Amino acid sequence: MTEAWHPEDDEPRGASGPVRVRVPAKVNLHLGVGPLRRDGYHELNTVYHAISIYDELTARRGDTLTLTMEGEGTGELALDDSNLVLRAAHALAGYAGVMPHARLHLRKQIPLAGGLAGGSADAAAALVACDALWGTGLSRDELAGIAADLGSDVPFLIHGGTALGTGRGEAVSPVLARPTSWHWVVAIADGGLSTPQAYRELDRLRETGAAGPPLGSTDALLAALRQRDPRVLATTLGNDLQDAALAMRPALAATLKAGEAAGALAGIVSGSGPTCVFLTADAADAERVAAELEAAEVCRQARTAHGPVPGARIT
Ligand code: C5P
Repeated sequence: MTEAWHPEDDEPRGASGPVRVRVPAKVNLHLGVGPLRRDGYHELNTVYHAISIYDELTARRGDTLTLTMEGEGTGELALDDSNLVLRAAHALAGYAGVMPHARLHLRKQIPLAGGLAGGSADAAAALVACDALWGTGLSRDELAGIAADLGSDVPFLIHGGTALGTGRGEAVSPVLARPTSWHWVVAIADGGLSTPQAYRELDRLRETGAAGPPLGSTDALLAALRQRDPRVLATTLGNDLQDAALAMRPALAATLKAGEAAGALAGIVSGSGPTCVFLTADAADAERVAAELEAAEVCRQARTAHGPVPGARIT
């Protein structure tokens, strides 16, 4: 528990003006899915990577807790207590023993149910923003502890960068590599895919022998990250959920093919899809591949991005 008020005066701690937090989307460079556990989650062996597509959350002082939004998903995303942003604010307030009072506004660029962990990103942003607004002063590890209860990807989005994820994905440890920027094209699809459904579809494909062999260890990918050569990294990207996403959305096969035909070094489905991500040799190639994907009409929008970038941070 953290004391949220200065004992020496009655002035509230924390920020009096607005706190603005920027949070990135994530892709999984390697998403190894193990067996279904008793708690309904799958054991994961994953390498998370934060990329430069951002949501932004602004927190202001208020007399109650409210959430408004603009951008991706406006009108579709529920703004009631089921929203991960509000759940995050309540969880932090409960942990720190403060009233959950804030006016929160979300500007979304990360698509809903896209396999880019947009909802988890917003929850991570809410924890960082409210911690500053309320002056609760938690460490990043304490915030990551609260984050784990909100969703498997939320702790990673507090940290950002490139990191190994184990357990159900919530146990995160940074991958130390010399600074390199990788250049990506992110092909955003029309509509989303349900993550629980994608995991169920993978279980079904595995039961019927229709799934490809599981990915196995992350060693080759981690070695490729150290080598800093995108052509080497391209050979090591993999996602066990890709077969499931392709079964649920067969049109993604054409998106993957078009990206590679346009000169991407490799393409994979991001997380549970339907977003596809392509590794390119450099920023100029990424621009070219994005333009070709849009011209081929195999996605709603193709954006360039680079990674790794930091997790949820006050701007
Ligand atoms: O943790 P999160 O709420 O993001 O997970 C959403 C759903 O995805 C879970 O309810 C579960 O069905 C599935 N999931 C899983 N194994 C994981 C992570 C998520 O089966 N490691």
